[in-house]
Amino acid sequence: MSTTVPEIHRGLAGVVADTTEISTVIQETNSLTYRGYPVQDLAARRSFEEVAYLLWYGELPDPRQLTDFQARERALRPLDRTTSELLHRLPETCHPMDVLRTAVSFFGAEDPTEDDGSLAANRAKSLNLLAKLPTVVAADQRRRRGLDPIPPNPDLGYAENFFHMTFGSVPDPDVVRCFEISLTLYAEHSFNASTFTARVVTSTLSDLYSAVTAAIGALKGPLHGGANEAVMHMLLEIGDPQRAETWLDEALASKRKIMGFGHRVYKHGDSRVPIMQDALDRLVARAADPEVTRQATLHAALRHAMVTRKGIHPNLDYPAGLAYHLMGFDIPVFTPIFVMSRITGWTAHITEQLTHNALIRPLASYAGPDQRAVPVAR
Ligand code: ACO
Repeated sequence: MSTTVPEIHRGLAGVVADTTEISTVIQETNSLTYRGYPVQDLAARRSFEEVAYLLWYGELPDPRQLTDFQARERALRPLDRTTSELLHRLPETCHPMDVLRTAVSFFGAEDPTEDDGSLAANRAKSLNLLAKLPTVVAADQRRRRGLDPIPPNPDLGYAENFFHMTFGSVPDPDVVRCFEISLTLYAEHSFNASTFTARVVTSTLSDLYSAVTAAIGALKGPLHGGANEAVMHMLLEIGDPQRAETWLDEALASKRKIMGFGHRVYKHGDSRVPIMQDALDRLVARAADPEVTRQATLHAALRHAMVTRKGIHPNLDYPAGLAYHLMGFDIPVFTPIFVMSRITGWTAHITEQLTHNALIRPLASYAGPDQRAVPVAR
């Protein structure tokens, strides 16, 4: 038996698993780029639809390409009756991420081209999911509020239409802009857990719907996308800005993970946070409401205490969670909103994986009992 102990990278920390041309974090400048463009510039100057196009096709669309892309996305938004009825039958006790995961699985079962992994087929499936996921999320949120679904409006952009389908109206452009910034920031982040999950599934030459269904499952966890919901539950639990420090001390003493803080890649602050925090600050200022100010004060106090006590900085979920709450979305819909955005990154990676596929299959260092004889059954 070999005595060499292999080097183990728990959680694959520090492991470079493959190359990608889609996005990167530049450690020296702590910045994130999509296809070479800084994400803060994309968030400031481009729509989410343009960012989706960029992630999929590698370049920003020209005006004609954008018009065509938008027209195709808008035409695909409605759900057919079978899907609507199926989703309506799911228990309201299940998490909206379960609804979304079931919806994507069902879209796959309905699609006669499910097993066609060609570039053209996968692009068509990706656009179909981008268009339909907000319709699923909005209808599910309304159902839980005892309201009928509102059909998509093809005259509205991606972000505006989501507000329309959820609330029956489109808010002030500042609010829509803040939401759109969050979508751009959430769209892509290299080999994060859910994207890597999608790549693992794709590497077996399984289909796109299976990869996205698995990615939704990975994103749901509170150490990943589920953190934006956990942030809001935590802020509501603390309640009073005056309690932030003592609450944090008790939570850290009991080894609790503070949601919305820390990151595997960023150890000195998440590059996306300043942009999202600015957008959140504008939402708070615009509200001019004492209750909103109180929540923002608590948010800032906890952040200050965490950075001072532990030197651990917030990640994107920290400002995004409060921003979605202030926009009026129910907490269980925060992670599904993340899906509505990250579907672009996931599907870009699925396509990329297929261009130079290698089965993803790491090794494990065995730590169980030595080989032994099976006892004779009595
Ligand atoms: N609260 C308390 N302590 C923390 C936190 C946190 N949020 N994050 C890191 N730490 C501590 C750990 O306890 C550990 O301390 P130790 O060395 O004394 O044991 C040290 O910092 C290193 O943390 P790890 O968990 O080993 O770092 P890792 O890179 O594996 O974890 C993770 C990253 C999972 C995101 C972690 O920071 C965490 O659990 N954060 C809270 C959940 C969260 O916000 N997730 C969202 C991630 S971003 C996204 O998905 C968009």
